[in-house]
Amino acid sequence: MIRLSDLYREHGRRLTPGDMDLQAGITGWRSPSNIALVKYWGKVGEQMPINPSVSFSLSESYTETTVEFGVTDDPRIVFSFGGSLSESFGSRVEAYIGRVSEYLPFLGALSLRIDSSNSFPHSAGIASSASAMSALAMCLCSIERNLFGTLQDDTAFKRKASFLARLGSGSASRSLFPGFAVWGHHPGVPGSSDEVAQPLPFRGLRLRDTILITDSGEKPVSSSAGHRLMERHPYREARIAQAFDHTLKLTGAIRDRDMHTLVRVVEQEALTLHGLMMSSDPGYGLLNDRTWAIIREVRRFREQSGIPVCFTLDAGPNVHLVYPDDHQAETAEWIDERLLQHCEEGRRIDDGMGRGPEEIRKTGPQ
Ligand code: DP6
Repeated sequence: MIRLSDLYREHGRRLTPGDMDLQAGITGWRSPSNIALVKYWGKVGEQMPINPSVSFSLSESYTETTVEFGVTDDPRIVFSFGGSLSESFGSRVEAYIGRVSEYLPFLGALSLRIDSSNSFPHSAGIASSASAMSALAMCLCSIERNLFGTLQDDTAFKRKASFLARLGSGSASRSLFPGFAVWGHHPGVPGSSDEVAQPLPFRGLRLRDTILITDSGEKPVSSSAGHRLMERHPYREARIAQAFDHTLKLTGAIRDRDMHTLVRVVEQEALTLHGLMMSSDPGYGLLNDRTWAIIREVRRFREQSGIPVCFTLDAGPNVHLVYPDDHQAETAEWIDERLLQHCEEGRRIDDGMGRGPEEIRKTGPQ
């Protein structure tokens, strides 16, 4: 089978500065974060996941990135965050541009002025690398399209953007699509791949995600360190088998709108993720008393009301409450009454399934 990395590398070599249609321009994309229902945890080689994952794109939690680009003899990258120069994120962006230049060698002839901002606060338990890297990857694909007239087809454009986003952050590959996405090869999901994510048909199942902030502090152990600990994890093989099984069950549940299965799989995934952290060598735990109090409340409310509300967790102590759109009213009341008391200063973010990235700036008539 032909690997996409080989195809894109080969294609990139043929995009030579002499063929550029344009010398300078601007592009901008708003791209969402996503919440994983089956978790990506552990990677091999060039950002390949050890197991498939499933997520949905959010609507209110996003990054907006604009890139001004121009052909120059003295290429530079200037990065600012919300208008202010940011050296720490700037060096990550610079390393990323270096990494993707293998697939987009024309970037070596360009100066880039990149500005980025997030719609959500730092450390809110929202994967900012997913929205930031997917927004940047969309901008890079737009630059290619602007300069060479390639990637006119939306599917081809998103596919390449997902490939490039993955190289910046694995979870970013899944932010490119409306609704649900799957990343990672699974024999039961036609077309699925370790190199790119793809959208999953969801026939009207619309979910919300209310993010309950229990602690907005910096995480003591980063996701990158957590991924590394999966390399020699004693339960690695069992985890991989479980994630394959969960992906099949969850994609089936989404297709059939089977909320019973969805709730079971989503909660098992969340607790497994943190179980894996605790059983790593060295082991660590990120959950706090408030997280556990919320988890108990969720299970009690579900049992009493019959409403299919469940919790999921990213690599931190904040809780993502996932539930169908059509139970929003009853759920909102319960959140106010029972859950906000467990949040840091009563903080929560109301989010839900979104429509994927949106173009916000382009060269020529806006
Ligand atoms: C727990 O995508 O942040 O959120 O590829 O190293 O950037 P890198 O990791 P990242 O890991 C996300 C892990 C997770 C689960 C998930 O989103 O699937």
